[in-house]
Amino acid sequence: MSFPTAFLDELRSRLALSDVIAKRVKLTKKGREYTGLCPFHHEKTASFTVNNEKGFYHCFGCGAHGDIIKFMMDLEKLPFIEAVERLADMAGLKIPENSPQQKQWQQKHTTLLKIMEEACRFFQQNLFSPTGATAQQYLSRRGITPDIAKNFRLGYAPTGSKLTTYLKSKNIPLSDCAKLGLIVNNQQYGSVHDYFYDRVMFPILNRQGKVIAFGGRIMQKGEPKYLNSPETELFHKGEQLYALKHATPTIRQKNEAILVEGYMDVISLHAAGFTNAIAPLGTALTETQIRLLWTLCDEPIICFDGDRAGRGAAIRAMKRALPILTPGKSLRFAWLPDGLDPDDMIKKRSAEEYQSVLSGAHSMIETVWNFLLEGRSLNTPERLAKLEADAHEIVLEIQDKTVQNYYKKAFKKYLWALDKNKKKNFSFQNVVPILIPQSGLSEAKMLLAYLICYPKTCEKMIEEIGALHFPNVSLSQMAEQVITEILNNPTISSTDLQNALEPTDLSLLKDELEMLKKSHRSELEIIRELRERISDSKIHALKAEIQVQTEIYSQEPTAEKWAQILSLKESLKTEMEKQAEIE
Ligand code: UTP
Ligand code: MN
Repeated sequence: MSFPTAFLDELRSRLALSDVIAKRVKLTKKGREYTGLCPFHHEKTASFTVNNEKGFYHCFGCGAHGDIIKFMMDLEKLPFIEAVERLADMAGLKIPENSPQQKQWQQKHTTLLKIMEEACRFFQQNLFSPTGATAQQYLSRRGITPDIAKNFRLGYAPTGSKLTTYLKSKNIPLSDCAKLGLIVNNQQYGSVHDYFYDRVMFPILNRQGKVIAFGGRIMQKGEPKYLNSPETELFHKGEQLYALKHATPTIRQKNEAILVEGYMDVISLHAAGFTNAIAPLGTALTETQIRLLWTLCDEPIICFDGDRAGRGAAIRAMKRALPILTPGKSLRFAWLPDGLDPDDMIKKRSAEEYQSVLSGAHSMIETVWNFLLEGRSLNTPERLAKLEADAHEIVLEIQDKTVQNYYKKAFKKYLWALDKNKKKNFSFQNVVPILIPQSGLSEAKMLLAYLICYPKTCEKMIEEIGALHFPNVSLSQMAEQVITEILNNPTISSTDLQNALEPTDLSLLKDELEMLKKSHRSELEIIRELRERISDSKIHALKAEIQVQTEIYSQEPTAEKWAQILSLKESLKTEMEKQAEIE
């Protein structure tokens, strides 16, 4: 729904911007403008200004800028329509009556929604009837309980064009059903049949919770794995996100969204308590979807499958978001271990380990930088210069000048550091996390204690340590903080580092730190031991990974999986040889 421009202008002119803002921010009048503490970032001195005549607010600190509607959207995290409705309410304005054409369209829309609702109920009933027995078994095999199935309104599309018969019996015009992609009406052959048959049905709801489309999964091997409703009057794939209605409250409350690839990932995550998971609908992430998410939270986390396709899709999402970054709004990227999707992570690993992957999510700038560095060797001035040129080019994609400037500054620093350290090769492998399993907990704690006791010595190995993922949330967050502190100040002392950490966090490593304090070791000894510990952790992680992958292979033996297992075994062998050398 869009509003007539005249109505929006009337709305803006009826309300003084400063009145609306003053409900949330303490404003002081200074000449023609008002100033106050910016509500969009943390600050101690006022750099937020409001100008009623121009109808704009502007923050000189963070660059937040906009009109009354944008203020409402950003501060209350509301979508455009709701922000306008809220303001219209304040202004005592009535939302304009639709034109006769719009009214007619609205009626048609309502009729179509009712048909989709009918179909959804039909599929649901079928799932929980004898016809749906195989589908029920399929879902239970995949860990979906009847409660979860009900919550997501899953269903079953039977064979034999039963939906067509059912809709006919309800006197619903078949032409409408065809328009909605529920039935195929082949006039040339005079045949009418169901679009979905013998599939598990995942209804797609819009933000109001109305069914607008379906995805249907085949239960055996076959193509396509998921059959989705075509684009219809109700359904525009690129503007919707699967499970957004379910996830919105948590996304708002946690100011965090997890964007995954598939229906099953979403459902599995919700069942495991990650109720802020959503997914695009089998297409590349669109600008509209990114903006939609930004109305709900600041930095949605992209967490696609741990395979080449997933990583490629994440990089495409990064490129899509780059031009539209604005102050405060960005994406984060969580990288899954090879061969696992979020659903596998929950089932084959644990919710804790998945959480630690999320906690280790990379920022937008890290992701762009890693993307720039991937596969380059940087051992000549020309190659470094090319990197600088490419970095410059990618930064120019960013339309917002403030954000663009900060990227420029940051890249300058990174390039300078690269040149200084003469880093040679970089590969994406380095950023794919090596997950230390629960069984490696004590090793991981010791490693972290070393880092805290000997930051200067550890700095030399910081990248290798950075690639490790610690097996629980508090450890992984602490590791991240320690690494950041050391990177920011490579000569930081152990005392300063300990002061920067939360005492409750430090107490987790009490025994390890005590032990290290008592031992007086030379730098060489420390390095040797660190190498050993990193190596131990990697070996531990690789062994666990091989076990998981072998399990997957036993259920679904493919040549690709076997090649992956072989390559893991190869890495394990190399790592064990390395370890033997150290010893
Ligand atoms: P995946 O193939 O990763 O599916 O596709 P998945 O979610 O892991 O499926 P399961 O676990 O095997 O059931 C990710 C998403 O891409 C879209 C769907 O939205 C799917 O959830 N997709 C995939 C399609 O639309 N059609 C397809 O044939 C395959
Ligand atoms: Mn998947």
